[in-house]
Amino acid sequence: MPVTVIIGSQWGDEGKGKVVDLLSPSVDVVARYQGGANAGHTICWEDKTFVLHLVPSGIFHDGVTCVIGNGVVIDPVALMEEIDTIKSLGFGVDGRLLISHNAHLIMPYHKRVEAAIEEARDAGAIGTTGRGIGPAYVDKFARTGIRVVDLLDRDVLRKKLARSLEEKNALLRKVYGAETLDVDAIIEEYVEFDKRIDPFVTDTTAFLHNALAEGKTVLAEGAQGSLLDVDFGTYPFVTSSHPSAGGACTGLGIPPTSVNRVIAIVKAYSTRVGNGPFPTELDNEAGEKLRAVGHEFGATTGRPRRCGWLDIVALRYTSSINGFTELAVTKLDVLTGLEELAICTSYRVDGKVSERFPSDAQTLQTVEPIYEYLPGWTEDITGARSLSDLPGNARKYLERIEELMGVPVRLVSTGPKRSQTITVAGSAA
Ligand code: IMP
Repeated sequence: MPVTVIIGSQWGDEGKGKVVDLLSPSVDVVARYQGGANAGHTICWEDKTFVLHLVPSGIFHDGVTCVIGNGVVIDPVALMEEIDTIKSLGFGVDGRLLISHNAHLIMPYHKRVEAAIEEARDAGAIGTTGRGIGPAYVDKFARTGIRVVDLLDRDVLRKKLARSLEEKNALLRKVYGAETLDVDAIIEEYVEFDKRIDPFVTDTTAFLHNALAEGKTVLAEGAQGSLLDVDFGTYPFVTSSHPSAGGACTGLGIPPTSVNRVIAIVKAYSTRVGNGPFPTELDNEAGEKLRAVGHEFGATTGRPRRCGWLDIVALRYTSSINGFTELAVTKLDVLTGLEELAICTSYRVDGKVSERFPSDAQTLQTVEPIYEYLPGWTEDITGARSLSDLPGNARKYLERIEELMGVPVRLVSTGPKRSQTITVAGSAA
């Protein structure tokens, strides 16, 4: 049976958690395929709000099996805290949470090295989340990383760790003048972690293949956004993994032919956290209003997010990379009360109008957005349950997005709660 991939179509924080949570009752498996505890997927139910960093957003639905795939980098401390909180909320994880034996581990030196590098970059800093993500993926690709499976054999773990730490300690001490770390203390901590995660660890790729062969439905949950993809994002101001649809195949071990639906989560405006080019950024009152009304502060770091208008040039670009089959437009309610809304439809680059998303961050930094303007609405839309409940101008805004993207809008979110959602005919939600 086919796989649905959920993609952040912008720079992350589009509301993927809410959409995955909404779709979960209609699937058997939800699988995270990349990133780590840099993600913050927010889910609200009744009067509770919970932010998931590593555990897939299907965990609050008893019949759903949640997979942390081989493409994810796991921070043991964050994972344990998250599992404890999920349990304390009354949800079971035993037999429902599966962790890939091939997933790489975030080690204490990854965070320390990242902090030192970011500090040394000074004004050129990427503005990372500080969760050790970049250095962990560096080790993965340098083939010096430590994987979940390495925890099984204490001698192998010690050998790998000693080799890695020798290099990391030299880097920390000699290049950055930072404090070094001790092998024994790390071994002790990770052996404790091993005891706790052992029941969850398995060959998740084989599990997914069996599930698909049995006709089960799988939702692949992306973290971050396509514009933060290490290959297709605004490099070097990106994360170190592949949030784009291709990442679902490599991060879970599923064939591309198993994917038949790619849902783009599109925030009704744009936000970005951290540094890097952002053509439609609003450095004014409207931007501040979006930040305040949309609670645009990082779910992981609490940092204020940069806010701006919707950027169709960027969205068409991510659509071309991911093959979006439908759009889920989130946070439409945040636009209520704005007299006029702007949608960026092209850029002016070196005096010429272009609809192409430049492939280098330097050019993107210099583009001038060209906008078309639509009238806003003042009516409260947080209670709307169908498109016909929306004011005409809100419907026109959605129709224009659909038209410009050439992809249908199948879901509209008008507030953080599960009930504050409009599903449009043709949607499986
Ligand atoms: P890293 O993923 O911590 O290495 O950070 C690299 C860039 O990606 C920084 O600009 C972060 O702010 C951004 N980033 C990482 N994770 C997220 C996320 O979940 N939402 C939004 N931005 C993110």
